[in-house]
Order: sequence, then structure tokens, then C-alpha cells
Amino acid sequence: MKKPKLVVSTGAGISAESGISTFRDAGGLWENYPVMDVASADGFRRNPALVHEFYNARRRALLESEPNAAHRALADLEKDFDVYVITQNVDDLHERAGSSRVLHLHGELMKIRSVSDPDYIESLTPDSPDTTPQTRGRRGDLMRPHIVFFQEAVPMIEPAVELVREADVFVVIGTSLAVYPAAGLLHYVRPGVPVFYIDPNPAQTPAGVRVIRAKATEGMRILTDWLRKHREEYVV
Ligand code: APR
Repeated sequence: MKKPKLVVSTGAGISAESGISTFRDAGGLWENYPVMDVASADGFRRNPALVHEFYNARRRALLESEPNAAHRALADLEKDFDVYVITQNVDDLHERAGSSRVLHLHGELMKIRSVSDPDYIESLTPDSPDTTPQTRGRRGDLMRPHIVFFQEAVPMIEPAVELVREADVFVVIGTSLAVYPAAGLLHYVRPGVPVFYIDPNPAQTPAGVRVIRAKATEGMRILTDWLRKHREEYVV
């Protein structure tokens, strides 16, 4: 029997309970780092060493972190749904929790790519040394973090929109809905498709969005329970 398509859009909040800083909460990354110096195309041009060090520090923090119960709950839902995760996060916690379809809108911390050829990408391992502006790939290219900086295009937004258009259920977890185009995804669901938003401090959402005001781990327990009890509302 065809499984319903569950499309989930996640932000930094789903990784908060893994000990990874969000960006805009109190004490978040953008309180401690000047975002346009460490995460923008201009900043990378101005001082690439500072940008490499910012991502080296975040990669080191990621290697100390584990997926949490919310990541695992999403992976578990693959038993009953075709689950597609669209994430703004650059961590690999969804993959490490067992999610099999993860689309990264803003890049991946554990990858680097050629400065001159964006399609040439190499994976880092936990043993990889920190990267610098002089880091070269196996092919000899100078390499950069495989991250979408501010002022850069988001090439994966088109496939992400297609996934949302096909969703039977759409869930947003742990994002302030402050950054486009990711924040606009919820406008692409078909009429009648249930939309949930799990966040302890939710941003404004359009009418009809079912807000679960809770942390990701608790919110996933509530959502999973709802999905089990209300199949008739989304099984086509
Ligand atoms: N569970 C769920 N949500 C949480 C939790 C938690 N335990 N803790 C915090 N949150 C929520 C906050 O209430 C907030 O709505 O997570 C959201 C975090 O928002 P941001 O810090 O703005 O992170 P995000 O929305 O992912 O940022 C989007 O901005 O800087 C860029 O590229 C960066 O991908 C990032 C993008």
C-alpha cells in the first residue's frame, strides 16, 4: 500500500536539544558572531580565514553532538510514511538518526567544495584537519565550506518546493521563519493538507497552521500521536 508523503522542514531548533546553538535565540550564534563577517559572500571575500575558522569551530561542536529524540522520531516515522526532510541545518544529525531522504537547503558542515567549481564536493571525516583558505581537494582545487552564505543563491529550493507541493502532511520544526526562501515553503502545500509547526516560541504563521508550542522532542511525541489517530485526514 502506498505510504502517505510526510514532508518536514527543520531549522536549528530541532538540533537545540543536541546541544547545538540556534542562531536567533538568546545566546545564539548571531549574538556572538557578526553574521556578515562569518556567513556571507562578502565576508568570505574579505577574510576567508575567519570564515574557515567559524565553520571549523561549528564542525568541532557537531562532532561532540548526537542526534536527539526528535531526529530519531522523524527517522522512525519512515515505517509508516514516505518521509522527506528539508533542512536549513548544516549538521548531519538527521542522517545520523537514520533519516534516509534529507535535502540540505543551506549546505553541509561535513562537506567542502571547490572555490572554482561548485559541483566538485568532498566529504570530510571526523579525522579531517581544520580547513584553511589554502586547503586543496584531491583534484588540486582550492576548497571552501560547502555552505550557502548569505548573498548566495539557494540552488536546492526548487526541488524542496516540489516536495512540499506533493506533501500529504507538512511539518515545520524549530525555525524562526526569518530566512527566505526556506520560510516560504509552507505556502506551497496543496489546499486541505494538514500543516503543523512545532516550536516553543513560534513565529507568526498563516491561518490554519496547527501550532504545537513545545520543544522538538515533546512536539514530535504529540505529532506522532496525532498522525496515528487521524489517518483519515491525510490518507488519500
Ligand atoms: N525545539 C524546537 N524549537 C526550538 C527549540 C527546541 N528545543 N529551541 C529553540 N527553538 C526554536 C526557536 O524558538 C526558533 O523559532 O528554533 C528556532 C530557531 O530559529 P533560528 O535560530 O532563527 O534558526 P533557523 O530558523 O534555523 O535559522 C534559519 O538562518 O542564519 C541562517 O543559515 C542560517 O539556517 C539558518 C537560517
